[in-house]
Amino acid sequence: MNKTYSVSINEKIEKFNKKIKIPGDKSCSIRAILFASQCIGLSKIKNLLESEDVLDCVNSLKNSLGVKILKKNNIYQVYGNGFNSFNIKKKITRIYVGNSGTFARLLCGLLSTHPGKFYLYGDHSLNKRDFTRVTQPLEKIGAFFYPKNKKNLPLTIEGTDMPLAQKHIENKGSAQVKGLIMMAALSTPGITTIEEKKISRNHTELFLKELNADIKVKKLKQGNLINLVGQKNLYSFNYTVSSDPSSAAFLIALTLLTSGSRLVIHNVLCNKTRIFYLEILKKINANIKINNLRKVSGEMVGSITVSSSRLKPLNISKDIGKIIDELPILFIIAALTKGISKFKNIGDLKNKESNRLMESKKILDQIGIKCRVTKNDMTIYGKEKIKTINKSILIKTKGDHRICMSSAILALATGFKTKIKNFETVNTSFPGFITLIKNLGGKIVIK
Ligand code: S3P
Repeated sequence: MNKTYSVSINEKIEKFNKKIKIPGDKSCSIRAILFASQCIGLSKIKNLLESEDVLDCVNSLKNSLGVKILKKNNIYQVYGNGFNSFNIKKKITRIYVGNSGTFARLLCGLLSTHPGKFYLYGDHSLNKRDFTRVTQPLEKIGAFFYPKNKKNLPLTIEGTDMPLAQKHIENKGSAQVKGLIMMAALSTPGITTIEEKKISRNHTELFLKELNADIKVKKLKQGNLINLVGQKNLYSFNYTVSSDPSSAAFLIALTLLTSGSRLVIHNVLCNKTRIFYLEILKKINANIKINNLRKVSGEMVGSITVSSSRLKPLNISKDIGKIIDELPILFIIAALTKGISKFKNIGDLKNKESNRLMESKKILDQIGIKCRVTKNDMTIYGKEKIKTINKSILIKTKGDHRICMSSAILALATGFKTKIKNFETVNTSFPGFITLIKNLGGKIVIK
């Protein structure tokens, strides 16, 4: 992580009307690099997100696992040598996984079938996050983790050369968990089955289809059944990463909450498992349109147009896996919308880059918005008008980019004098966020 810094916002943003582009999607960028390392031949990736999480993935693959990756004319070129082809020289390979749960967990899937020992360590935030969701399914296929029964990073993983195809039940609604099982299944003989009880983003499945892997996804009454046949070689590919809808969410919220404003964002990933928050917002009266829908690299992509809107309260209890990264900004929208908003079954938010339930509550407490949190639920008593005069707020969440950006949107939409510490963490997912806010007319100062 680079130098730490805070930002200050002291004024409400003026109305704006702009067309913008935002950086590439984080989930697809990490998967593109990881898959390319397992394919045979030279893969080329355009518009890769150059955020810290993705660059940590690129650098660890290059420096710790011996994958040749070059950047030429802004295109990432990855020289893949097939499954289990990491070039390791040491008895135990040390791998830095930074702040990225996605990189760390998907990588564990690949390493679980790679003979060798790998010591994985993350930053302060990632080292606190749950890894039993990784160790449990991977121990089942034959990998070992040391120290035994440790629940978080740092951990040493020892891969097996005799992985067992298993039936897994994924009931958290976590794309990382089903993704890491699919990563392990690639070089596992036989059919690995995942019963996905709660839907989450499906980029791993779509990517594998694009690569002609032997994968079948069958709809069930509740969720999906995924069958993946292992040990079928995959070959190099060309891939274009579209813009990140979870990053777009912050700017969409700012537009909705700033009267007289309009924003167009081009080339946004419009995968149904990622833009569910737009459906939810439309239901509460948000003026949002998606145009020019088309397929790029196996994913739906479109242009999003949003105009400021008078919203109604939110009531969310289902399909949480499809809005997991948008909840912090939806809490801000709920706080600034008159009425009682209810969010149910959102307990897994505690296991993100920070405990997002508690950190969001702390912010709302500071602006005088009543908010009740229980183990799995949150109720927000929103107000359309809040007194901001003579009130200042301080946000000090270490290592959570989405809490930082949600706080910035709150400050810009209301005019609360706000200081947000450790804002550098925004670079893990959305480099250029500050520049974009300035481009819309927002006054945000780095301290
Ligand atoms: C991601 C899955 C989600 C999400 C994260 C990216 C992915 O995590 O929060 O930002 O790319 O698979 P979980 O699967 O743990 O919910």
